[in-house]
Amino acid sequence: MPYLLALDQGTSSSRSILFNLQGEIVASAQREFRQLFPQPGWVEHDPMEIWESQLATCHAVMRQASIRASDILAIGITNQRETTIVWDKKTGQPLANAIVWQDRRTADQCEQLRAAGHTEMLRQKTGLVPDPYFSATKLSYLLQQIPDAHARAARGEIAFGTVDSWLCYQLSDRQLHVTDVSNASRTMLFNIHTGQWDSELLDLFNIPAAVLPTVVPSAYKVGTTRLFGAEIPLCGIAGDQQAALFGQACLRPGMAKNTYGTGCFMLMHTGPRAALSSNGLITTSACSADGTPAYAMEGSVFIGGAVVQWLRDGLQAIRSSPDVELLAASVPDSGGVVFVPAFTGLGAPYWDASAKGAILGLSRGTTVAHIARAALESIAFQTTVVLQAMMRDAVAPLAELRVDGGAAANQLLLQFQANLLGIPVVRPQVTETTALGAALLAGLGAGVFASEQECASLWRQDRQFLPTMSRDQAGQLMHDWETAIRQVRCP
Ligand code: G3P
Repeated sequence: MPYLLALDQGTSSSRSILFNLQGEIVASAQREFRQLFPQPGWVEHDPMEIWESQLATCHAVMRQASIRASDILAIGITNQRETTIVWDKKTGQPLANAIVWQDRRTADQCEQLRAAGHTEMLRQKTGLVPDPYFSATKLSYLLQQIPDAHARAARGEIAFGTVDSWLCYQLSDRQLHVTDVSNASRTMLFNIHTGQWDSELLDLFNIPAAVLPTVVPSAYKVGTTRLFGAEIPLCGIAGDQQAALFGQACLRPGMAKNTYGTGCFMLMHTGPRAALSSNGLITTSACSADGTPAYAMEGSVFIGGAVVQWLRDGLQAIRSSPDVELLAASVPDSGGVVFVPAFTGLGAPYWDASAKGAILGLSRGTTVAHIARAALESIAFQTTVVLQAMMRDAVAPLAELRVDGGAAANQLLLQFQANLLGIPVVRPQVTETTALGAALLAGLGAGVFASEQECASLWRQDRQFLPTMSRDQAGQLMHDWETAIRQVRCP
């Protein structure tokens, strides 16, 4: 039987998922790896741990399905975006820990960019806003901090890559230094209109061009890997959120999805038009079957499922993440508790790197169940704010929101989400749509699928959650949420 293998390198874990050609999951394997917090607001990963955990899941999934490398038609790679890695091209060794997308250490540099009046130019060229979230200031920081790095980068001795580049480099036995359009569009060094690295941006961030990977289309054969006993083509690369948009078959303008991962990311396809937001959202390159330019509008929420991880690891309120649903459902509501999980500042539409998390509205009757419920609700509140901003930008109202990711298994969350949004929330049969998107792109790149339409025809609905709350009540809850948000932001 022929298969497509998706490597899904996320913020909290590395996964490999094997799909058949109908887009159904055959086997999957997952490994968590260490999250490093060297200082408040800093988040790092060890690049070798990223690679080793990813590789281990590839072997595990092949063992589990009892298949050989020759059964895999193509590999697709999808990844946490923006996370910045630099390595020595000769030795292949990383020169520092990866600076993770959530890391806030370059907030001052972003403030300086704003003060110097660069916001509009950055927005016009990259679709992004000056925020530590994106790779440019992280790379600039690394090239300054690592001794001799800037000069070595200029001499072409050092490579920069987001996680997709790093995985391709390792998979190809250090032959490939590439990234795809969707990942490049998250660096703040890439002009999303010309589809090229932009010299004005490279000058602004003081980045030598020689450090950058070659940009390729998302569905494209970039090379092969020989690490598994037979040659397997590497045919798809996409940032995880754009891969999920593809896997959700949101391929026409106006179709939108929300992925509940470590963060929450809502993307609406805007077709060949790079629509700019007037309401705090960003514009990003989407994947297309034939490499023609496609775009999406995005609302990025930094803490989504990670709030459940914090309940588990930080507060130790639950033993495993799925336990949160039972605990939250043990109370009828949050009892007036509002949980703002601004652990790494606030993303869209606020873009406030200095906001801090808070649990508000505590009383003598508050229990850990109320806090768990408020934590779950915070995911839906943040998503609703983003959707409202998107609706203010969009020409047509959204008919439904397709959802996916780990927390899409949580019925309580999805029902509350539909109640706040006032539109149907639709869950597909395969909720691992990030991995599915990568597998489909790999299938397109390998010629297994002929068109986007063929990929879209594999999407199947599982369940629809319809709103049951009055609009007045939803409005009141959103009002309370906005009041809480104001309280965690510095004046
Ligand atoms: O932009 C960051 C995003 O790509 C991270 O995704 O799935 O690890 O939350 P995830």
